[in-house]
Amino acid sequence: MAPVITIDGPSGSGKGTIANRLATRLGWRCLDSGALYRLLGYAAEQAGVELTDGQGLAQLAMDMVIDFQQEKVLLNGDDVSLVIRTEQAGNAASKVAALPEVRAALLQWQRACAVDPGLVADGRDMGSVVFPEADVKIFLDASAEERARRRYNQLIEKGLSANLGSLIAEIRERDDRDRNRSVAPLKAPDGALIVDSTALTIDEVLERVMDRVRETLPELK
Ligand code: C5P
Repeated sequence: MAPVITIDGPSGSGKGTIANRLATRLGWRCLDSGALYRLLGYAAEQAGVELTDGQGLAQLAMDMVIDFQQEKVLLNGDDVSLVIRTEQAGNAASKVAALPEVRAALLQWQRACAVDPGLVADGRDMGSVVFPEADVKIFLDASAEERARRRYNQLIEKGLSANLGSLIAEIRERDDRDRNRSVAPLKAPDGALIVDSTALTIDEVLERVMDRVRETLPELK
């Protein structure tokens, strides 16, 4: 199998940014697994499938035609890049992600992304379930307040509306659901480098991650 680096962590911990930067630096492919759950939550709401209907959602997951382009994500040919980034889509994602049928339906699709020269995969269970044999595992964390503040800035930059107080509450609620679900709960996988990014810049986090990558895969500079 191609080399894999996993970056797991809670919502807003910066894993998407770090995963993208790392993939660009190494010239590897990047998998944003959260986008898959967001796409499914959105597709379910559009199709009128209940967010608790495991079978219906698994079928919908298998029927989705997903196209990750440079800056865009297409679902069945439609550009849904912005709409899947809303808090509503994030919450729908975290509900469908708690169902074992949904996780099983998306497993092979994710594993198939591990192609040469390598894959950087970010999510909640990349190092624990999807790629347990990954070469490097990172767990990125930050305080709930800091994560809500980052999400707030991201949404405002994209021209979407946001309220900091409700973002903190939503992040806590989502954390609770992600950490306490029975299937693939969010936790640092064995052997992961744990980085708390609350007081670190993106470059500082990236350097810590790169130190671990160079230690484990010295052929990469
Ligand atoms: O990372 P992001 O916020 O886009 O993920 C949205 C939701 O999808 C998360 O709150 C989580 O419930 C779910 N998710 C997951 N497993 C992953 C990635 C995301 O359960 N590997």
